Amino acid sequence: MPALVLLGAQWGDEGKGKATDLLGGSVDYVVRYQGGNNAGHTVVVGDQKYALHLLPSGILSPECTPVIGNGVVIDPAVLLSELSGLNERGVDTSKLLVSGNAHLITPYHTTLDKVTERFLGKRKIGTTGRGIGPTYADKINRVGIRVQDLFDESILTQKVEAALDFKNQVMAKLYNRRAIVTEQVVEELLGYADQLRGFVADTTLILNDAVDEGKVVLFEGGQGTLLDVDHGTYPFVTSSNPTAGGACTGAGIGPTKINRVIGILKAYTTRVGAGPFPTELFDADGEALRTIGGERGVTTGRDRRCGWFDAVIARYATRVNGLTDFFLTKLDVLTGWEQIPVCVAYEIDGERVTELPYSQTDFHHAKPVYEYLPGWSEDITKAKTFADLPKNAQGYVRALEEMSGAPISAIGVGPGRDETIQINSFI
Ligand code: GDP
Ligand code: IMO
Ligand code: MG
Repeated sequence: MPALVLLGAQWGDEGKGKATDLLGGSVDYVVRYQGGNNAGHTVVVGDQKYALHLLPSGILSPECTPVIGNGVVIDPAVLLSELSGLNERGVDTSKLLVSGNAHLITPYHTTLDKVTERFLGKRKIGTTGRGIGPTYADKINRVGIRVQDLFDESILTQKVEAALDFKNQVMAKLYNRRAIVTEQVVEELLGYADQLRGFVADTTLILNDAVDEGKVVLFEGGQGTLLDVDHGTYPFVTSSNPTAGGACTGAGIGPTKINRVIGILKAYTTRVGAGPFPTELFDADGEALRTIGGERGVTTGRDRRCGWFDAVIARYATRVNGLTDFFLTKLDVLTGWEQIPVCVAYEIDGERVTELPYSQTDFHHAKPVYEYLPGWSEDITKAKTFADLPKNAQGYVRALEEMSGAPISAIGVGPGRDETIQINSFI
């Protein structure tokens, strides 16, 4: 089973970090293929808690080689500080490989992200303010700066100049801000060159060779299916493709090489930032999910919006990603409710709809249709097998599986590595 993709099936923060870390010990490479330090992945190992933003969660497994693929956008200052933070805690990061084709987030991208949001006013996306959108915009616009540009001062200067030509007009005339000076940007970027040089490699070649040799390669998505720029709730999305196809373009691997696609699925739903969310709760239940689930952003510290499980979304994730398995996380958070509502369909303008509507207007009008499943009160955090779960928790899992269209192969009953029930092996 050499190539697996692991991705978020909802709006992000499903527990991808924990799931990747769990597999890290049995895989040879863990590869981030899109996004950047907008991600916040929490990994709990024993009494140690790690918050990773840019580095693949496999970095905590010594036998595994972490890779940042070409589809990722890299803020070099963040990368270096994340590396030194881990080194200080005794984590060996020397095996890291970084694609020379990955694009760089520069200070002007971060500034533009924040300024654009301010300019959008009440129509803002609620981005993480990390420069993600403007960096991907420059990539598509063919005025981006890539990691490899750091190693040729003349090319770097020309590219930064080209990127700033237009932006400085916008900055000055539209946003009323001072122009950005090419030389300053170049100097700052060149300052990272020597520290990054040793990590840069032809990652697509290395990964394809690894798969051909039967090594196990895990592609770790950031964000989630509904935040995908093509398949998510546009425009309230991130600027990349977390969906399974993104692993191919973002790492340079052909789709025929991928054997398994695992969707990480929270037992309820959360979302950060603006945009539609049919099962969102504004009552005491929403507050309880937020408190018990610790639903606060790892990157921005914002409270996450919380709601009940939405099976329409889970089915959609199965469809657009070709999911072979689900990893259901945070089942323990639902302990204590007498009945647990699960959204099985939407009502849109008086009609019952069971598939995610492709029309943005319809989705904004979607009202959840709930089925009520019996809850449980027993502590499930020590459960090691499916049979250890109370009958009603088993019933909840089976019902979600039936509705979501792919087998639930693992269940999270706590944040720790060992707080997992494995039903089918992933590798
Ligand atoms: P990611 O962005 O998908 O990696 O998820 P985050 O790390 O942003 O948010 C998931 C949170 O849930 C983290 O605090 C994890 O430690 C925690 N977590 C993951 N799996 C479980 C689980 O099964 N139960 C509980 N209680 N917490 C979990
Ligand atoms: P992980 O990997 C949850 C959201 C932002 C905003 C939108 C666009 O931890 O699951 P961006 O800065 O990407 O341009 O913001 O996407 N967002 C996330 N929400 N988890 C994430 O990452 C996210 N990364 C971006 O809140 O709504
Ligand atoms: Mg997160």
